[in-house]
Amino acid sequence: IGRTVYFYPEIDSTNSVAFSLGHSGAGEGTVVIADSQSQGRGRLRRPWQSPPGSNLYTSILLKPPIEPAVAPQLTLLAGVAVADLLSEYCPGAIRLKWPNDVQIDGKKVCGILTEMRTAGHGIDYVVVGIGINVNIQKADFDEAFRDLATSLGVETGRVLSRLDLAVGLYDCFEACYVRYLAEGFAPLKEHWLKYARIVGEPIEVIFRDELQAGEVVGLDDNGALLLRGDDGLVSRVLAGDATVKKK
Ligand code: BTN
Repeated sequence: IGRTVYFYPEIDSTNSVAFSLGHSGAGEGTVVIADSQSQGRGRLRRPWQSPPGSNLYTSILLKPPIEPAVAPQLTLLAGVAVADLLSEYCPGAIRLKWPNDVQIDGKKVCGILTEMRTAGHGIDYVVVGIGINVNIQKADFDEAFRDLATSLGVETGRVLSRLDLAVGLYDCFEACYVRYLAEGFAPLKEHWLKYARIVGEPIEVIFRDELQAGEVVGLDDNGALLLRGDDGLVSRVLAGDATVKKK
């Protein structure tokens, strides 16, 4: 990962660029990184605030030999890779929030957006986009996120090198990806659940105004959350915003 790097001072979205590169035949592990994005994209069609000078915006092109249905595993993989990396800076404080947020003390420090192109019944390529709040200060967040988001700089009280972080990220990602290709999803799932600490917790997930609630049983192989409802039945939740409820 990261043997070929495309850097842009400003770009619309590193995911869009990586997607076009995939289309023109760029190799697995190619990465795109930008200082700022004019149209950074978040999950569920939300914008991703991407000012220059302070954060990490990067996308990784992958060509995994897997079925499209299990591609969400790569989002979980990216979460584990980021959690491994950030744990070096804030040991013990990193938590993963399903499906794709990385948090420090309940505040979002990183978001992940996975997009793929299919060919026939298989995957042509996958783009995993990762945005990490590095040196952005609390006052510089949009007001709506100020209490919900944080940065590594705020949490550590240091100014961190984005280059060091990017290099560390590609190393952590590669370690997780190589293991995933060799050993499959099972070890990765355990690793993810360890960082998420949600098994047994009561949670609510809202997706397009529909609410699903229950106790978390685990994850299935498609990256769906498994929830046991009051009736004892287990249901699968594929997308949405999750909140842990107080017992
Ligand atoms: C989310 O939490 O909603 C996902 C945010 C993903 C943001 C990253 S920044 C790099 C890459 N390029 C984008 O346009 N989005 C992702």
